[in-house]
Amino acid sequence: MSLLKLSKQSWSSQTVFIMAAVGSAVGLGNIWKFPYIAGDNGGGAFVLVYLACIAIIGLPILLSEIALGRAGQANPVQAMANLAHQSKSTRLWAGLGFNGVLAGLLILSFYTVIAGLALAYFFNSLQGLFVGIESEQAQSLFDDTVSNPWTLLFWHSLMVLLTILIVSRGVRGGLEKAINMMMPGLFLILLVLLGYATTTGAFGQSWAFMFSADFSKLSWQAVMVAMGHAFFTLSIGLGTMMAYGAYVGKDMSIAKASIIIVIMDTLIAVLAGLVVFSIVFANDLAPGAGPGLLFQTLPIAFGQMGAGWLFGTLFFLLVVMAALTSAISLIEPAISWFEQNWGFSRAKAAWLLGSLVWFVGLGTVLSFNYWEALYIIGERNFFSLLDFITSSIMLPLGGLFIGVFVAWAMRPDIREAQIELKGRLLALFNFSLRYVTPLAVILVFASNVASEWRTIALVMMVSVGIYGLYIYKMLKRAKCLSN
Ligand code: TRP
Repeated sequence: MSLLKLSKQSWSSQTVFIMAAVGSAVGLGNIWKFPYIAGDNGGGAFVLVYLACIAIIGLPILLSEIALGRAGQANPVQAMANLAHQSKSTRLWAGLGFNGVLAGLLILSFYTVIAGLALAYFFNSLQGLFVGIESEQAQSLFDDTVSNPWTLLFWHSLMVLLTILIVSRGVRGGLEKAINMMMPGLFLILLVLLGYATTTGAFGQSWAFMFSADFSKLSWQAVMVAMGHAFFTLSIGLGTMMAYGAYVGKDMSIAKASIIIVIMDTLIAVLAGLVVFSIVFANDLAPGAGPGLLFQTLPIAFGQMGAGWLFGTLFFLLVVMAALTSAISLIEPAISWFEQNWGFSRAKAAWLLGSLVWFVGLGTVLSFNYWEALYIIGERNFFSLLDFITSSIMLPLGGLFIGVFVAWAMRPDIREAQIELKGRLLALFNFSLRYVTPLAVILVFASNVASEWRTIALVMMVSVGIYGLYIYKMLKRAKCLSN
């Protein structure tokens, strides 16, 4: 038991915890990523698969992950080690936390680049650049912004810096108020935009694009992306919710919290999608325009509607805030691990890991210009490969093992004490966690092995290497202890 490291802090209330978790879940994933991957993958069927994944896989894993954090009482690596120890299972489960630490840093490296773009667009709007803008000008504004790596680098660096500064001061204090304002604000502006969308004359088309499904056009690869996005958008699979769950008090309800997180997150994504596609169809744009979709469409709306300058400026400010509350949660597993297990101060860990993230982010910065057509595997450049590896492989794998641990390996009395469900709901939860979730993830993976074998092999090789290093360290430590 001497290996147990317990965290002493906790959220000051249930509401604060829910707000922090929603702050983590709602971010660029909902506003930027969801519309563009839905557009890339033909809408309809993709959106329905995504929604199904949220309900069937996302919700049970979200609940499990928070429960693991609350039961393990530490950063994800240590929490898994604690729980494996208590459940008399192998300490290798700590590798699950490790996968999350790594995935979080990798995701953050492109997250800050996109958040930087949103920050650039905040200033664009502030300067009145959107006033009366037409679709072609919106397009070239975006192209001009991303074609210059120095511009992207500047905003990326600024976002990394902001993340470091917030994280090193501690996640909870000042952010509470920020999230308090951001959430309702973002929701309100999305409603204003929805109002605008209904006046474009293409709202019906947008609705049909999002919800009328033609499953014959859906590829297995799209299913993999949809499933991966369910993990991404709910912030699950890498230990963020575990890290946040470690601060959840015994008297709080994690089932209630999970449902609120899922509803808020899905609502914001669907709203963003409806707005973006209304603008797409009203202006004869292509839904599959890729990562630039949000930035090429919304300025048109702000340029045309009344008080668009004000709404545009506020909107991008809120997007930056939403991105920041997610960014700090992406790095939290790594920070708390460095703090608790490696004796770093919060600030030191933040600067070290932040610099690492900044450096890896250079690859994404270049992926929008010089390296855009530098395909590494298949038709994926650095950014899209990194996104695919983290969102579509590492997160679902993390989620799979979280589910497997909770359903099969965790000591039943510890599990029961965490999952407050009873009767039929508990049976349903257990059933989906035992069978549905793992089978779904494995099936989607298996269906993609043929076409993605090179990407999967790459991930396997890297993780075996890192894992080997980790096991080596553990063995060495075990030897030290026994000496
Ligand atoms: N969910 C956030 C978004 O939608 C991104 C994010 C934050 C995340 N923390 C995470 C994704 C942990 C995966 C895992 O923008």
